[in-house]
Amino acid sequence: MTYKAMNVDVDGDGIALVTIDLPGKSMNVWDADLMEDFAKWVDAFIADENVKGAVITSGKPSGFLAGADLNMLGGGGMGGGASKKEQFESAFALNATLRKLETGGHPAKALQKGEAHAKPVAAAVNGLALGGGLELVLACHHRVVADNPKIQLGVPEVQVGLLPGGGGTQRLPRLAGLQNAAMMATQGKPIDPATAKAQGIVQEVVPADDIVVKAKEWVKANPKTTQPWDKKGFKFPGGGGAMDPRAVQFFIGANAMAQKQTQHNYPAVQYILSCMYEGSIVPMDTAIRVESKYFLKLLSSDQTRNMIRTLFINKQAAEKGEQRPKDVPPSEIKKVGVLGAGMMGAGIAYVTAKGGADVVLIDRDLEYAEKGKGYSQKIVEKGVSRGKVTKEKGEELLARITPTTDYDDLKDVDLIIEAVFEDPDVKADVIKKTEAVIGKDVIFASNTSTLPITGLAKHSERPDQFIGIHFFSPVDKMPLVEIIPGGKTGDKALATALDYVRLIKKTPIVVKDTRGFYTNRVVPPYLNEAMLMVAEGIKPALIENAAKSLGMPVGPLALTDETSLELGLRIMNSTKKELGDDYKPTGVEDLLVKMVEDLGRKGRKSGGGFYEYPEGGKKHLWAGLSEYFPVAAEQPSLDEAKERLLYAQLIPAAQCYAEGIVSDPQSADLGAIFGWGFAPWTGGPMSHIDTIGVETFVRKAESLAQKYGSRFNPPESFREMAKAGDKLYKKAA
Ligand code: NAI
Repeated sequence: MTYKAMNVDVDGDGIALVTIDLPGKSMNVWDADLMEDFAKWVDAFIADENVKGAVITSGKPSGFLAGADLNMLGGGGMGGGASKKEQFESAFALNATLRKLETGGHPAKALQKGEAHAKPVAAAVNGLALGGGLELVLACHHRVVADNPKIQLGVPEVQVGLLPGGGGTQRLPRLAGLQNAAMMATQGKPIDPATAKAQGIVQEVVPADDIVVKAKEWVKANPKTTQPWDKKGFKFPGGGGAMDPRAVQFFIGANAMAQKQTQHNYPAVQYILSCMYEGSIVPMDTAIRVESKYFLKLLSSDQTRNMIRTLFINKQAAEKGEQRPKDVPPSEIKKVGVLGAGMMGAGIAYVTAKGGADVVLIDRDLEYAEKGKGYSQKIVEKGVSRGKVTKEKGEELLARITPTTDYDDLKDVDLIIEAVFEDPDVKADVIKKTEAVIGKDVIFASNTSTLPITGLAKHSERPDQFIGIHFFSPVDKMPLVEIIPGGKTGDKALATALDYVRLIKKTPIVVKDTRGFYTNRVVPPYLNEAMLMVAEGIKPALIENAAKSLGMPVGPLALTDETSLELGLRIMNSTKKELGDDYKPTGVEDLLVKMVEDLGRKGRKSGGGFYEYPEGGKKHLWAGLSEYFPVAAEQPSLDEAKERLLYAQLIPAAQCYAEGIVSDPQSADLGAIFGWGFAPWTGGPMSHIDTIGVETFVRKAESLAQKYGSRFNPPESFREMAKAGDKLYKKAA
């Protein structure tokens, strides 16, 4: 038999070596081909008397198997006209196959009585096994993992609002105990092989070269196997199952914790605990059906559907490069010139070198340029000390970065990224100096955050090769990059910018050349709203909690501290100057002046803002604030505060879409989730508007506008959409 996504070799002893190796992919995932192949193989394996046992491994140096392809989720269980039963069967497919593998196709009763046994199957795990990858490993009877602390074993599904749907919620607690399993699955954090062995999840941790040999040895020595949970009298490690009082107590505690963590209506954690609880009191065959029931329930929820759609779009955007002009050949980006080695330039140099390109890092002064490289050094050293990167790899990365002040060093670069001061004159000067030495067809990208690209391109002799590539701080952590074609930018510049973003493995959105582009158009009104609330006397803690319960990673006041109040004041002053009489006051002018100029509370880096940052201690809200902005007697409810902060993001995001700053709802959603941490399970602001209905959105926005001011008015085109009963996403995901 031949397979598309795996290779099967039976040796002289009748042991099959199954090597999973998806063609053309750098990493294995459960996709439609592998699902089909694997199910076919399991049947053949059970039927073939000449095959005595099997070892399952991966043909990819990058790891064992990284989970499920999102395409699969898009198709299976997502509705689309399938009956309830069909939907269940689709959600149950992986569980059914893995169960067959571990039972050898025998009924549980026969296994329990010892009348039947499965053929032995061992996993030889060469690298990371996550989600459905680890679930395959767990369904094997024996698990051998390469001895490498960097290998990640885990079920991270919860982080995207899902649950492990391939038996993970059932086999993990039966191997590691309820407590360990619940921790692993509700937090989604992977563990290393040594920890997995200590918890009983894997049996052997051996040198990488020996995994297959050891796995085969075990298979040969154990011709008849039964999983522990299919044996009579099985007990959960550490207690649990069959209403063990310890387990009941554990679930009560865990449930309370989950309630606390999931105040924002995020069902995955609850469902994982329900799977474990309900599954722990029934036999395995029922337990996996319980899991699939919850898995399907999750897949059918708005939150999950939205999230999958957005993540799916992200993946498509990254892989297919749909925004990329088709007829431009792939760019070769081997060497990049980074101008300015400050906060942004240093980060850009790091991610570029990490992506594999050489970097020429230029600053006014060699000391600054070297300091910029020092930033990479710090990240690398931290990575090495934590075992995330080898010393050699770290050194290779650092060797790619050359700090300098000499523009001649730029002569053979393939791309320039400029990150000098946000001053048009300084930028004009470096553009001129750079274009004097670089090749005629090299693309010049600016990381400006406020200056229009079309305007900057006027300083260039090749405006068709000039483009904006806008990063976010901290560059090494923030996944989003905005790409901004100017008025004269050509296809080659756009294609090169997208190719570069792909090289450094970030998510691009293409946005129109307007003030603030997309994210910086939406975030300031949101932060302003929070500051207005402070000025009105709303308790800062309430404001911060409201945002967090919307699912924002940090509160808006903490974010204002990060981006600095001083910068806010500076931008406000320059906007005032630029717009003159057209400047529309935002209402936070007085607060900014008071905080920055009178009180010296400029933000986190300048010692503190809305928060205090005690050395070595935890940040906390600045107690002095109430002296200058007294707390009002009447406070809004948490829900009112939430709504106000939510619409302070939805309205400007909708305006950007209405004005074509982002060309489609997908980009608006991606930009929001990856740019400023808009809750991923909403699918992003446009998705969220679709979920509640455009009509509801318009109605709520209008009532907020009446209460708080015209800034909450919905865009006209949304009013029209509401009237017509239209949706933003035309096609169902
Ligand atoms: P920074 O002040 O930390 O770094 C600027 C660097 O440019 C300094 O090291 C400076 O010595 C160097 N520089 C100045 N003039 C130069 C010249 N003529 N030749 C060579 N080097 C020169 O500033 P930061 O924050 O890194 O910002 C840089 C650019 O990135 C600005 O355009 C800014 O608007 C933009 N940006 C900043 C973000 C942020 O969060 N800070 C986010 C996105 C974009």
